[in-house]
Amino acid sequence: MRGIRVGTAAIEVRGLWKIFGPKADRIIGSPDAELEPARLRAKTGCTAAVRDVSFEVRPGEVFVVMGLSGSGKSTLVRCLTRLIEPTAGELRIDGQDVRAMSARQLRELRRHRVSMVFQHFGLLPHRKVVDNVGYGLEIQGVGKTERHEKARRILSLVGLEGHEDSYPEQLSGGMQQRVGLARALAVDPEVLLFDEPFSALDPLIRRDMQAEVIRLHREVGKTMVFITHDLSEALKLGERIAIMRDGAIVQVGTPEELVGAPADDYVADFVRDVPRAQVLSLRWISRAPEPDEPLDGPELPADTVIHDAVPAAMASARPIRVVADGELVGVVSRVDLLGAVRPETQSVVVSAPAEKPADESDESDESDESAEKAAEEPTEEAAGSEESGGDEPVAPGGAGEDAPAVEAVQEKPSGEDVHQEPPGEDVQEEQPARDEGDTSAPAKARTRGGAAVASASAPGEA
Ligand SMILES: Nc1ncnc2c1ncn2[C@@H]1O[C@H](COP(=O)(O)OP(=O)(O)OP(=O)(O)O)[C@@H](O)[C@H]1O
Ligand SMILES: [Mg+2]
Repeated sequence: MRGIRVGTAAIEVRGLWKIFGPKADRIIGSPDAELEPARLRAKTGCTAAVRDVSFEVRPGEVFVVMGLSGSGKSTLVRCLTRLIEPTAGELRIDGQDVRAMSARQLRELRRHRVSMVFQHFGLLPHRKVVDNVGYGLEIQGVGKTERHEKARRILSLVGLEGHEDSYPEQLSGGMQQRVGLARALAVDPEVLLFDEPFSALDPLIRRDMQAEVIRLHREVGKTMVFITHDLSEALKLGERIAIMRDGAIVQVGTPEELVGAPADDYVADFVRDVPRAQVLSLRWISRAPEPDEPLDGPELPADTVIHDAVPAAMASARPIRVVADGELVGVVSRVDLLGAVRPETQSVVVSAPAEKPADESDESDESDESAEKAAEEPTEEAAGSEESGGDEPVAPGGAGEDAPAVEAVQEKPSGEDVHQEPPGEDVQEEQPARDEGDTSAPAKARTRGGAAVASASAPGEA
């Protein structure tokens, strides 16, 4: 793993563990920690969902975590803001020790600095799109005029201009997820966490949304951690990808590194169907020119993928000159191009990665499902809805039939160490905005690393 320099990464994770079950902390450091998941569960009743995970995410990077169902992706991403309390390890966001944060600091972190986009959108059905997007701002106490103004700006950023006054059910799945995206962006966070946000969408809309994330990333430049179990999505979005297996990270690398040099058979198996021509760059396959080779062939940047170099190779029999920063990096001939995508050059695949046993996946699916529900679905009560007057803020899921949170947390196997919070958590401690129409409320400022940072600017202005 590449060296971590304290303070330079947007997110730093070192030696992180999450073990669900009784006396979980005693397992770390004991020989039981080495047991494979099924044996650990049989022996101790514990599940090691995240095992000794270390990685860092650079500011502005899109970091993808991928792995099969049950490999620990959701647990890992929820540990980052301690929605799930880690069992051990170090965790820093922008250099600040997240594990040392007080409840108040954590709340600040989740409200202002880190936003999450969920698989099932988690929109409030009885609120207009504009009010869903402004939800996080409302929790922060931002006045109605200001949050509507901001919500409208962000809605146009995600291509939903004109839908401000619609209700979620009037939108397609893809549009609803755009609202989810807009809601996450509205608080102008430093970091966006995505937990399989597009897996409920059909393939075409999914492709649109992936393009949308790429575009948004280009425009707003946020640090993003994106969870998926879809390799093509991972390759499309990720600047670097961490591959998880049984709670551990088996390899972190660029798409090219994973495809061109998989660390083991598990990774090789993951990437074996990847069209190498779409991933491997000219830099990866270039070589020093032979003494007699002509050096007046077409010139292409080193980061051109093989697929995109084909027209140049077709147009000239001379080797492609591969350049970076004006310097010749090497050459690539037609033979090199073809050789790089030949099946024989693919990594040898030994065995398919083990699927979770059926009973286990059933079990976790159920608990994950309910947990997700609890974490994702803010309730009207949570926001202190206008309809109800909202004088007394009610805890999320605290009342009425629309209260999935409480029920779901109770169903969770080890619910006691899982803090399920909807996007605008902790409303019982903070009065929801009641200054409707009050435009004079000053924008809140938050402090980061000692500097005051205005949180009311649009992402595009950040
Ligand atoms: N609250 C919990 N109590 C006990 N075990 C849990 C809990 N939450 C998750 N697990 C277990 O931890 C492991 C990792 O689960 P996690 O939800 O992080 O996987 P995932 O990679 O996100 O899977 P998926 O792709 O299906 O969402 C699974 O074995 C799961 O059963
Ligand atoms: Mg998951």
